[in-house]
Order: sequence, then C-alpha cells, then structure tokens
Amino acid sequence: MNITVIGTGYVGLVTGACFSKMGNKVYCVDIDESKIEGLKNGILPIFEPHLGTMVKNGQEKGDLIFTTDIGEALDNTDFIFIAVGTPMSEDGSANLDYIFSAATDIAENIDHDVLVVIKSTVPIGTCFKVKEHIDNILKERNSNVKIDIASNPEFLKEGRAIEDCMHPDRIIIGAEKPEIFDKLKDLYSSFVLNHDRFILMDIKSSEMTKYVANAMLATKISFMNEVANICEATGANVQKVRLGIGSDKRIGYDFIYAGCGYGGSCFPKDIQALIHTAQINGYEPMILSNVEKVNANQKMVLVNKVVDRFGSDLNGRTFGIWGLSFKPGTNDVREATSLTVIRSLIDKGAKIKAYDPEAIEEFKKAVGEKYMDSIELVDNRYSATENCDGLILITEWKEFRNPDYGILSDNLNEKVIFDGRNIYDKRITKEGFELFQIGC
Ligand SMILES: NC(=O)c1ccc[n+]([C@@H]2O[C@H](COP(=O)([O-])OP(=O)(O)OC[C@H]3O[C@@H](n4cnc5c(N)ncnc54)[C@H](O)[C@@H]3O)[C@@H](O)[C@H]2O)c1
Repeated sequence: MNITVIGTGYVGLVTGACFSKMGNKVYCVDIDESKIEGLKNGILPIFEPHLGTMVKNGQEKGDLIFTTDIGEALDNTDFIFIAVGTPMSEDGSANLDYIFSAATDIAENIDHDVLVVIKSTVPIGTCFKVKEHIDNILKERNSNVKIDIASNPEFLKEGRAIEDCMHPDRIIIGAEKPEIFDKLKDLYSSFVLNHDRFILMDIKSSEMTKYVANAMLATKISFMNEVANICEATGANVQKVRLGIGSDKRIGYDFIYAGCGYGGSCFPKDIQALIHTAQINGYEPMILSNVEKVNANQKMVLVNKVVDRFGSDLNGRTFGIWGLSFKPGTNDVREATSLTVIRSLIDKGAKIKAYDPEAIEEFKKAVGEKYMDSIELVDNRYSATENCDGLILITEWKEFRNPDYGILSDNLNEKVIFDGRNIYDKRITKEGFELFQIGC
C-alpha cells in the first residue's frame, strides 16, 4: 500500500516507521523543514527506543521517505493519515489550526479518490468538519475527486511507542461505511496476525474513546495522589494501600502509583479539551475539572516538602534534580513536573543542578531563559548531586533506581532525598538519609 502520513512528530514518525516496516511505501510529510532535513540525514527529532534503527532500515529500503512537498507525498497514495499536533488553546479547547491546514493541503493537492484517516486526538465531530472542509475546497477546484473520512485514534505510549504500534492492544476504527472498515482492517491486519484486535464504531464514538481513555488514566493518577495526601495526613502508607486495593481484580495494579503529578503532551491538554467539549455541549463536568486541580497541586508537593525541610527562603541552597522528562523513556518535557518544581525552587532563591539521560536539550528550550542562569545541567547523575543540599527525584529512569549511596553520601551537603516517585526503600534512613516520599 502507499501511505502518506502528515505530521512527523511522535505519532506520525512512529506510525510511518511501523507502516514501512510492514512493507508499505510511506511518505512522511512535515512543514518543519529542519526536522525533515535532519530525518533525511539520519537525525531523529525525538528520543524513542528502537525508532532510529527502524527509520534507518525503512529509508535504506526506499520504503520510508521524508519530504516537505505535500504534492509528492500525495501522489498515488491509498491512505492519508493526519497526525499533526492538537495543542491546547487558551480557553482549554483543542487548537485545530494544524488539522485544518493539513486538510487544506490535502484538498488543494489531491488528484484521486482517497481515504483520509485522522490519527491526531481531535474533539468529537472534527472528522466530519474536516471532510466538509476538504469537500468545499474540492468543489471550488471543480474537482471530481471523492474523499472518505475515518477516525483512528492513536494509543501509543512515549518510551514504548514502537512496541505499542507494532503490537497494539486495540485498533479503534471509527467510520460510517462498511467498506472503510474493511479497507483499514486490511491495512492493519499485518499488526494483529495472532488475534483480531479491531474495535469498530461510529466516528464520534471513536473520537470520544481517545479522550475518555486519557481522562480515565489521569483520573486514576489524581485519585491515587489524593489518597496519598490523605495517607500522609493520617499516618497511613499509600504504598501498602496500593497493594491492598490493587489485589482486587476490579481495581487492578496499573496506574495507581502515587507520585509528584502527571505531565506530557496528552493528559493535560486532552482533559482540558474534554472539559471544554462538555461545557460547549451544556454539561458541566465535575470529576474532570478536579482531576486537573489535584494534579496542579501534586506538582507542588515536592516543593512544599523542600520548604517544610529547609524553609521558604532557599537563597544559598542548591538542589540536585534527577529526571527532567515527563516520564522515563522519552525526551519529551511538555507539561513535565520538573518544569514546575525547578521554576518554583528558583523563584524561592535556590540554585539547581540537574541531570536527565535524554531530555536536557528539550528542557533547555522549555524552562525559560530567566531560569537558566540558576541551573547547571550536567551529563551524569552523580555530578548533579555534588555540593547539593538535597537530591530531588522527579522522573524514575531506571538508572536512578539503585544509586550508590556511598557516593551520594559524599556528594550531598545534607543527606536528604525527596523521592517524587516512591522508588527508594525506607531502609536507607538507617544509613543516615532523610527520605521524603509521597504519601508514606
Ligand atoms: N505524543 C503522544 O504520545 C501521543 C499519543 C497518542 C496521540 N497523540 C496525539 O497525536 C497528535 C500528534 O501528537 P505528537 O505528539 O506526535 O505531536 P508533535 O507536536 O510531536 O508533532 C506534530 C508534527 O506535525 C507537524 N505539522 C503541523 N502542521 C502540519 C501540516 N499542516 N503539515 C505537515 N506537518 C504539520 C509539526 O511540524 C510537528 O512535526 C496529537 O493530536 C496528540 O494529542 C499523541
């Protein structure tokens, strides 16, 4: 099959690489010239395990082509996947400018009938609006080209994106005609050879499913963070409570870890977009609004613990930070807790030494110039603890799990660890460390 993927970010690049791995010929098109130039020269714009090899192999075989030329990318294509960003607008709604600009590009350049598939996370009803937009431009062009539309939301997790894409839990297809389901099932059948994982539905339900999946996961996190705060206030231990409730099959162990808040490019914006969609349709969501409020508070929990320990004036103090990306396995720092924690500590007078295995460059771009004077970014974990008054663990990369406590003891001015992900064993307190965790 010939496939065009519009938007070469986390979703577009991974999707394009995986489709090419299955023997399809894939054009990945992006408006960002430097990104495409880099990709042509083997430079990946993101860190994602196994992606580099897959992209290289696809390029070498001629199955994966990067371009900024939409005309070239649409020539002879059978499927057009739209995978551009849908960031948050000021009012919380999803900004659909990139989606409609991609739709305009398709409408102005396509010269044959084709199926347009929206993979980006878009508000309920967007697919129909995109089809209408394309049809209107085709009409203005006096073109007889017919396009069909489908929704196919993406569920990959950054850090495991290739695995998720090659072995999906489910493939949601939203469409209004049986032949569209069949076309997409044929395309995806190579990903689900051992058993069928298609879930077919109407377009609006498909668009909604993506938002609800993210809202449910974010709700679980915020619920457990609230429980952690109640545990802390009452002397209970959220780790033990987690095991106690997870053993109930109706609850399960996944996504009930307490921590220092969620970030990322999806949960925060998707919850806001769902709230906005509910409101403009006359429903005031009560749970969703509070999921976000709990999370905003949770991102400050580590700062509050630092203040409780060291006082609110942090002038003269330096803190070591382990982990800047919003979660392990990615260099993505969008809405990362590290940004909130580091900015807040600096606002209180502190200096920062920070280390992350992959996200340092992205962090530099995101944190804001005024903060950079107070931050030293280092290239190994122990340098980030030298002469620091405490270590703050924000992202649970594997290399932070079993540190050499002897080195930490020598490096830190005070043997204080703020563990934002509850990965350390309380027994280290026997070696003189003060350990502050979340909800225990
Ligand atoms: N990142 C994730 O983990 C993830 C997971 C599931 C779903 N999603 C959703 O997928 C969509 C894409 O997310 P992402 O993280 O890949 O975004 P991203 O910001 O990493 O990448 C988007 C890309 O689209 C390009 N682009 C914008 N307008 C374009 C146009 N008109 N033509 C060609 N390229 C254009 C941008 O230059 C950018 O490279 C979003 O709706 C997001 O919510 C993301």
